[in-house]
Amino acid sequence: PVPRPLAGKRVLITAGPTHEPIDPVRYIANRSSGKQGFAIAAAAQAAGAEVILVSGPVDLGDPAGVTVKHVESARQMLEQVQASLPADIAIFAAAVADWRVANEGEQKLKKSSAGMPPLQLVENPDILATISKLTDKRPPLVIGFAAETEHLIDNAKSKLARKGCDWIVANDVSPATGVMGGDRNTVHLITRRDGEIAVDSWPVMTKEQVAIELVAHVAKSVTGK
Ligand code: C5P
Repeated sequence: PVPRPLAGKRVLITAGPTHEPIDPVRYIANRSSGKQGFAIAAAAQAAGAEVILVSGPVDLGDPAGVTVKHVESARQMLEQVQASLPADIAIFAAAVADWRVANEGEQKLKKSSAGMPPLQLVENPDILATISKLTDKRPPLVIGFAAETEHLIDNAKSKLARKGCDWIVANDVSPATGVMGGDRNTVHLITRRDGEIAVDSWPVMTKEQVAIELVAHVAKSVTGK
């Protein structure tokens, strides 16, 4: 028989970029492909979990057997995440835009002699921090990602504390690594248990292998097996 260590567990995952509208035809986005989050969803489903995947705009097909909720903006992503609770495990792999345009145009912005339109930015809600700090519906295991281009481990450790999550998957996304949009990932799993922080550095793997390894660690943690 196929081992299904996450049978009976509900896993909530975010993936992909978000698109923040400037006007009806333009948006601000980032280079996230969604591949890592989708691979985690597929691996959790294969491990027997009920999986809800809240995804920003990506070019990937929905993983089989996974409930996928498609959103565009950070605010829509937060709404769908909240509507998907409770969950046993939450894994926030989305590259959520930090800012959105405050003065979103209702009509397409036009070129004019008055000069360029000013774009005012306001901060988006932090989905990982919001869910980590819930008192009633906080999933027992909350995992965030830290994509950094420098001081990877230090930045990831402070992110763990600041966001209030249990684990951080830290990855180097410097352009030379080809991680953003690519098929491979080099990650460090940073865990906090009873105030003790541990760093586990994994060798370079495909995003599918990272997903399988992460799901194995999750299964071990929640089932003790
Ligand atoms: O602060 P930073 O964006 O580097 O944090 C990354 C982690 O926080 C990721 O797990 C990402 O999915 C999550 N995040 C979020 N909502 C935001 C910003 C980041 O859930 N607005």
